[in-house]
Amino acid sequence: MTFSLERSFAEQQDRADPLAKLRNEFRIPRRADGSEQVYLCGHSLGLQPKTVAAFVQEELDNWAHRAVEGHFESQRPWLTYHERFAPSLARLVGAQPLEVVAMNTLTVNLHLMLATFYRPTRERPKILIEKHAFSSDRYAVASQIRLHGFDPASSMLEIGPRPGEEAVRTQDVLALIEREGARIATVMLPGVQFLNGQRFDLRAIAQQARAAGCRVGFDLAHAIGNVPIELHDCGADFAVWCHYKYLNAGPGAIGGCFVHERHARDFDLVRLGGWWGHDKASRFQMPHEMQPLPGAEGWQISNLPILAAAPLLASLAQFDNVGMPALRAKSLRLTAYLESLLRAQLADSLTILTPTDPDARGCQLSLRLKRSPSEALKVFEALEAGGFVGDWREPDVIRAAPVPLYNTFADVWEFAAALGRALR
Ligand SMILES: Cc1ncc(COP(=O)(O)O)c(C=O)c1O
Repeated sequence: MTFSLERSFAEQQDRADPLAKLRNEFRIPRRADGSEQVYLCGHSLGLQPKTVAAFVQEELDNWAHRAVEGHFESQRPWLTYHERFAPSLARLVGAQPLEVVAMNTLTVNLHLMLATFYRPTRERPKILIEKHAFSSDRYAVASQIRLHGFDPASSMLEIGPRPGEEAVRTQDVLALIEREGARIATVMLPGVQFLNGQRFDLRAIAQQARAAGCRVGFDLAHAIGNVPIELHDCGADFAVWCHYKYLNAGPGAIGGCFVHERHARDFDLVRLGGWWGHDKASRFQMPHEMQPLPGAEGWQISNLPILAAAPLLASLAQFDNVGMPALRAKSLRLTAYLESLLRAQLADSLTILTPTDPDARGCQLSLRLKRSPSEALKVFEALEAGGFVGDWREPDVIRAAPVPLYNTFADVWEFAAALGRALR
């Protein structure tokens, strides 16, 4: 792809963009002077679709006018509300509807999945995670190891980049699983790494892990709605994710979970139980023995928080309308454009930590300024003050993600120009 440095080029790209009108479906935050912010922070919190308010209001109205009957008698009865997510979620993560469910939040789902898919033994006590895993994943994994009476110091196996490199090499992950596999109970890695934006090769990792007799699962927080995912075909045992980043379902939105079809009717699998995971036909008869539902639904515990879940329906309708192939095609161009502007204009001042290979990343670019962390933070704060929204991750990383649903080529041009000004 070749790009020009002129602003007029960005404007021309936006005019030619078949997805450009989607931006009008979102609420774009504004600066004090009323102009729209340049929001490149969808990797943290996606913007609000305008239709969200109506979906939430509908359930407030159902509650007001029908109260308990809302479970059974409304346009979208609460009793089966969660079932509406499955077809769209299945499309986004490359799964069958039976394999996915929306419930809880990400870390809670990770615990539920590890309760089933981390069953350590003296011979096989380890969990393989990534050295720079998101703190919550790390805490969850360490606490699960302790829960089973093992020590994270010896049972948490970590894979990181080679010295002097930023990304983890797939060949290093595969070699480690080959070497240590007989001691690894569970492999748990990200789809897209939160800090450097690296996309992992889920298929190669899942294959290798399963060949070594390990369970394997992925944290797709930064991958869902960002990059193509083929969970079923890659053979992962489980996956978890959130919907508040690229899925635009709001702060603290309900999370998601995948359990592979081959486990769908294995009712002997140990799991943490609750009535919402119990057979629908006899749920209200409340028998003493839990009979789990087939598929991912069988890992539900509680009934769905409807008001919190309603925004996800609004968001998924947008993804269904556009489809991931079109979004990914625009995303590849937007991120390549950002990369080319930064390389052409600011290469002396910053390093791009995210892989250059488009297949090995999603929307996000992670930048390290060639300054002390405190000087770099000042540059970031100057950007923020000007209404350019990315985020800062300790110790010294600026993350910026042009999101194809609502960002423009002009946003990218403006951001690169503002970063240049802040550096000067
Ligand atoms: C990679 C990753 N894992 C876990 C979490 C924590 O998610 P939650 O607070 O929904 O459990 C986040 C949140 O941003 C994340 O990015």
